[in-house]
Amino acid sequence: MSDISPIGGTSGLKPAAPLKATQLHAKASPDYAAKLAETQALLQRAAAEFQPLVQASSLGAEDVVITHLINALQLDIGVFVLDTGALHTETLALLERTEAHSRAPVTVYRPQHEAVIHFIRREGQDAMYQSIALRKECCGIRKMKPLARALAGQKAWITGLRREQSSARAEVPLIDTSEVASKGLTKFNPLANWTWGDVWHYIGENGVDYNPLHDQFYPSIGCAPCTRAISLGEEFRSGRWWWEDESAKECGLHVKS
Ligand code: ADX
Ligand code: SF4
Repeated sequence: MSDISPIGGTSGLKPAAPLKATQLHAKASPDYAAKLAETQALLQRAAAEFQPLVQASSLGAEDVVITHLINALQLDIGVFVLDTGALHTETLALLERTEAHSRAPVTVYRPQHEAVIHFIRREGQDAMYQSIALRKECCGIRKMKPLARALAGQKAWITGLRREQSSARAEVPLIDTSEVASKGLTKFNPLANWTWGDVWHYIGENGVDYNPLHDQFYPSIGCAPCTRAISLGEEFRSGRWWWEDESAKECGLHVKS
């Protein structure tokens, strides 16, 4: 008897499980150990010299790495998340898990309810697709105003910006002092020189909890209406505000004043 079952037969063969983001992307750079040591030293220095300071976390892959490092190094750094009211259920579930398990305190900032309702009544639920101006107004209400509250009184903040993410971010420094004069804020980008492979290597090595949307080809995750999965060969941030020009694709969180 043949040991090959007919197609559709009862061979017991299951389709291969889809690969996880760790399996797909984890690939440490040759100088990964040095980069990790530099990142750890930078976070330690920031915590020692720039109090009070906070980590801005979107709960994306870069940000879960930084929160993990803050917790592992037991640094006196809080974490904040801007819950825009339009996040994916997967992101909200990760937020709950992070709040439950993080040693570092996690603070959630939400938009002013009346401002959101007023905007939706005036412009509709899908206003962001109508014009860049309306999209930016929505980002202003849901992200920028809460960000201002999150950063009030802080001396520094930490983000997950990486140079590889886009051409607009190609020059991101590890320590950004360009807003010290205007806002009194130093910005630390401790993963600035990490590759996507380094990020996933860290996540895999340390068993870090991450947003399962990353397993579904969402490399960059923002609000649900403004984020989609990307296809092979597409740019890292091409799933964000995909209907807009490349030049417009920032919500304002990291736009220089
Ligand atoms: S965005 O400007 O396009 O939204 P992106 O999603 O690439 O930014 O995230 C870059 C960094 O901005 C993150 O690593 C994080 O530090 C911060 N950030 C983005 N979204 C949020 C959020 N919802 N809450 C807190 N920080 C955020
Ligand atoms: Fe609004 Fe989209 Fe900006 Fe989120 S990313 S605040 S839904 S326009």
